[in-house]
Amino acid sequence: MHCVWLYSHRLQRVVGQAGAHTLYAFGDLVHTLSVSWDIPPSVIVIEATTILAVCLMSSPACSDLLYEVCEAGICLPAQMSRHKRCQRKRSTKTSAKTRERMKTEIANDEMRRIADRSQNRFLAEGVEAHRPTQLAPHSLLQPFSRELVSQLERTHQEIESLLISIIGKPTYSEVGFILYCADCTELLPRLEQSRLQIDLSITSPPYNIGKAYEKPLALEEYVQWCGTWMQQIYRVTKSTGAFWLNVGYLEVEGQGLCVPIPYLIWNKSPFYLLQEVVWKYGAGVSSKRRLSPRNEKWLFYVKDPLDYTFNLEDIRDPNVKYPNQRKNGKYRCNPLGKNPSDVWEFPKVTTGEHRSSRERTSHPAQFPLPVVERIVSASSHSAALVLDPFAGSCSAGIAAAGLGRIFLGIEISPDYCTMAIERYERFRTEKIDVQRQEKIF
Ligand SMILES: C[S@@+](CC[C@H](N)C(=O)[O-])C[C@H]1O[C@@H](n2cnc3c(N)ncnc32)[C@H](O)[C@@H]1O
Repeated sequence: MHCVWLYSHRLQRVVGQAGAHTLYAFGDLVHTLSVSWDIPPSVIVIEATTILAVCLMSSPACSDLLYEVCEAGICLPAQMSRHKRCQRKRSTKTSAKTRERMKTEIANDEMRRIADRSQNRFLAEGVEAHRPTQLAPHSLLQPFSRELVSQLERTHQEIESLLISIIGKPTYSEVGFILYCADCTELLPRLEQSRLQIDLSITSPPYNIGKAYEKPLALEEYVQWCGTWMQQIYRVTKSTGAFWLNVGYLEVEGQGLCVPIPYLIWNKSPFYLLQEVVWKYGAGVSSKRRLSPRNEKWLFYVKDPLDYTFNLEDIRDPNVKYPNQRKNGKYRCNPLGKNPSDVWEFPKVTTGEHRSSRERTSHPAQFPLPVVERIVSASSHSAALVLDPFAGSCSAGIAAAGLGRIFLGIEISPDYCTMAIERYERFRTEKIDVQRQEKIF
């Protein structure tokens, strides 16, 4: 095994020689050094407690290590930061040509402030070209372990037999994905009579705003109807279970135009409201006499506030602004990333000739897969039972099945059911294809 000389900048002398284990004690360095560990012996300057500088390689072959060190943003003494490769890297980072390429060309139009570079931050700084999305994020296409596959098969079979005995044969059933074409307010009370328990419910009901899939109701009726299914969901939820409810706005005649639905229904069931999450997105209705709404809410409920599933480590956000910031020599942020907070930014599923998402279906209110993926990861474990009583295009189902959970969907419209089944089957084929390709390479 190669060793590395440790030179203390403060003491101005070599303080020791380190193998992998010793270096491990210097925690912060390990990540950087392990990348280039098989290099010839070198000298590294270390300020033992705070690790201020890492430099002075004795052989030219160490330039890779130095390069990694620069990349990691560790502060280097002046002569080392003049190292050729570091300079090259820095200059490409700030290349004016690259920035220019990223900028979107828009013809100048006196009437449009948006066309003026000085007014538009995105034009001034550069807008990334639209990147077409995949049918499903890669994270949902990963293979499962053999143990999980057999656990899913067993659990699926148990759940399906129970369902058949209480509510009859599902419209569709494949390991990890069950769909009923029915009215959820009729099906859920029958589930209550069984010993079937839901780990997690994720849903978005009709908002009573005149969409094609809604029957218009008077406001009181609508609120009462919401209370009915919220309580039904509560009764079929496991004691450690959670319920994530996505809702937008509606008009309350004579009182308000964009009244957030949570104001009307948030306490219509015995669930405990843990918090509200703001889901911010770019697209939406434009407006001239008020601000364009660009967010909806997720209400995060649990049954028992002292005992519920929450896998923070699985949903940490790696998009950290200052990943190398330290305090007393230790990195300030968690190596997996930051807590994603209660404001989430996920684009809506787009439409349009050149910018339509590949995941787009004909359902007008489709959840983008990354949003539901985060919820499934946070609020359930492998092989858990995930319910969406207003399943629509079954985005929640694809996220659940893709992450090794068992999905139970209920959707009233036969057309949406047919479309959701086809969508799920395309997803399953893609998952098998990706796994085959990964085996080849
Ligand atoms: C807001 S959409 C949900 C869209 C879904 N989140 C998705 O990703 O596609 C509401 C869905 O609930 C369905 N629906 C309305 N009333 C229902 C009921 N009583 N039982 C089951 N589904 C119902 C509608 O047909 C519609 O597809």
